[in-house]
Amino acid sequence: MGEKWVLMKTAQTPTNIAVIKYWGKRDETLILPVNDSISVTLDPAHLCTTTTVAVSPAFQQDRMWLNGKEISLSGGRYQNCLREIRKRAREVEDKKKGIKIEKEDWEKLHLHIASYNNFPTAAGLASSAAGFACLVFALAKLMNVEEDESQLSAIARQGSGSACRSLFGGFVKWIMGKEEDGSDSLAVQLVDEKHWDDLFIIIAVVSSRQKETSSTSGMRESVETSLLLQHRAKEVVPKRTLQMEEAIENRDFASFAKLTCADSNQFHAVCLDTSPPIFYMNDTSHRIISHVEKWNRSEGSPQVAYTFDAGPNAVLIARDRKAAAQLLKRLLFSFPPNFDTDLDSYIIGDKTILKEAG
Ligand code: DP6
Repeated sequence: MGEKWVLMKTAQTPTNIAVIKYWGKRDETLILPVNDSISVTLDPAHLCTTTTVAVSPAFQQDRMWLNGKEISLSGGRYQNCLREIRKRAREVEDKKKGIKIEKEDWEKLHLHIASYNNFPTAAGLASSAAGFACLVFALAKLMNVEEDESQLSAIARQGSGSACRSLFGGFVKWIMGKEEDGSDSLAVQLVDEKHWDDLFIIIAVVSSRQKETSSTSGMRESVETSLLLQHRAKEVVPKRTLQMEEAIENRDFASFAKLTCADSNQFHAVCLDTSPPIFYMNDTSHRIISHVEKWNRSEGSPQVAYTFDAGPNAVLIARDRKAAAQLLKRLLFSFPPNFDTDLDSYIIGDKTILKEAG
């Protein structure tokens, strides 16, 4: 190996939105959840992370930049992902550039990582989901790792739980698993992005400010103090997950919407049941819920499902393009961006798949 080369890979990974929420860990280090969850992966054109990973004998240490600003890689989550992926690294040869990296060289070589989000970081738009999925996917490509997406998802999971679901497009299930070492806690694709391509997603960015209680500390407090969380994990989610899988399989929007809204509401009820209570939604979020509920009732069958993560932003899933157009008209009328509501903007998009670039 000469000293004057750099080998790079770039990947792009969309974020995902849970329709059955992950909230609570049974193991904080390995990031093992207390229940299964199901999500839909978004279109990378609107909400994605792009990560370039580079390796060179000239690099003195592992370093990372997020949106142009250097961040520390010393945290356990980054270290766990880097260690797990390095363990699986294989020989890489680039004949054109005259580079050959032996399997054992990966332990000595350092990495530079540059990652960009095209949406606000930590505003309840699941930036860590896209971030860790993209990091693991890009490193796997750079290091010629053989593992499939599900096996990679178990590594991304150790960066951020929800990240394991961003390794696939379409609808994805994170199986909580039973093993203590977390080897069976991984994501599987339920259906690909073509299965239900009528759906249309609109995100109403109620606030792009950073959230006050991170998901990690919020769910820790819920596990410690909420009885509702115990009931939810044991009694509600196992049944609801099966019903949701059936609704997705049959493209049954009425059931899908009912389950999605109920699960979001129960997740926020768990937050309220936490001591001290956690408030992720605000008045605008509540008004959006009322608006959608009223509209759905007046139509006789649901046109739109809503779901909220650890922040006030509304993710609205319309049954088709026509319902999305109607929804947008209604939203713009009742919640004009930056006009006497505290709504920042709208992100309009589709669902789609993981992409490797370059
Ligand atoms: C409300 O995956 O961000 O978005 O595993 O601690 O990194 P950590 O938490 P994170 O939690 C996401 C919670 C959620 C629901 C979901 O995406 O399922």
